[in-house]
Amino acid sequence: MTSIRIAAPDDWHVHLRDDDMLSAVAPFTADAFRYALVMPNLVPPITTTAMAQSYRERIIAAAGPNARADFTPLMGLYLNDDLVIDDLLAGVDAGVVFAVKYYPAGATTNSEAGGSSLIGYQAVLEAMAEAAIPLLVHAESTDPDIDIFDREAAFLEAQLAPACDAVPGLTVTVEHISTRAGLEFVAAHEGFAGSITPHHLTCDRSDILANGLRPDLYCKPVINSREERDALAAAAMSGDPSFFIGTDSAPHPLSHKETGRAKAGIFNAPYALEVVAELFHQHDSLDRLEGFLSLNGPRHYGLPVAESTITLTREEPTDPPPEIVTTGDGVDVRIFGADAAALWTIS
Ligand code: NCD
Ligand code: ZN
Repeated sequence: MTSIRIAAPDDWHVHLRDDDMLSAVAPFTADAFRYALVMPNLVPPITTTAMAQSYRERIIAAAGPNARADFTPLMGLYLNDDLVIDDLLAGVDAGVVFAVKYYPAGATTNSEAGGSSLIGYQAVLEAMAEAAIPLLVHAESTDPDIDIFDREAAFLEAQLAPACDAVPGLTVTVEHISTRAGLEFVAAHEGFAGSITPHHLTCDRSDILANGLRPDLYCKPVINSREERDALAAAAMSGDPSFFIGTDSAPHPLSHKETGRAKAGIFNAPYALEVVAELFHQHDSLDRLEGFLSLNGPRHYGLPVAESTITLTREEPTDPPPEIVTTGDGVDVRIFGADAAALWTIS
């Protein structure tokens, strides 16, 4: 038996949706994580402080009876032409808004309202740099001429690098890093950080394609090669404080995944910690687990480390845990990570 106690973890990138889906998925995040940095890609997107405030209240109401006492949603605003600088600054001052998320239009689920050029928002970015508001970036080119597996690198070079040069002092998180290009970009920029998902740490594209097409493993940015996966895992386990967990837990109805055009997004909140713990265990790196799950994120965002702790224990495999969650209105959602969850208990 292996057991490890760490400060309570945070999820620095999560999609909680709304309505019946929110009610079904929010408790998993609220039970496991202290802070949850909530993505604003609802339809319509969360672009104002008032919308963020009301969404935050719906999340807290949906967190459920077993929610951690310190569970705290942190709200992101969606960067597009509807975002008003004064409203953003007021929202941050009021403690309602925490960060701003940029989606290239068309790159991923509910990104249609996003931007076509990051530098097009220079005035917003300057106000954010001035007020030290974090910019969260979905770093994926939408150029159809660029191969899907090269689109992270392409976006970083063509969009994020020029924006960072034009607006010095931005605090940037490259979200759900999927390639070495993302790791290198963060390493090259003082004060930048990268979130990494449980699935990008543990899967490669052969898992999606080699043994029957797996729509449950389809997400954006698309899970890349074995070499990229190994580089991500090495970075996460290296102790480098620039990298921390963002689950990118992104539930979709099974009927939207197992269909002609699968929606991008993997629902992993229920077993995210177990998946990461098993990876670190397999590489004799459990002594670095707390950094990745609980220390590096708060440090990057200037927040205190959780005072509470959790204990993760690895035992003989139990019966496989559930792989499906059903929402109140009868919609099934598949959960990632049941194999690891059978090995670990968390208290
Ligand atoms: C996310 C979603 O479904 O909202 N999908 C995904 O594949 N990761 C959006 C996102 O973060 O790209
Ligand atoms: Zn996401």
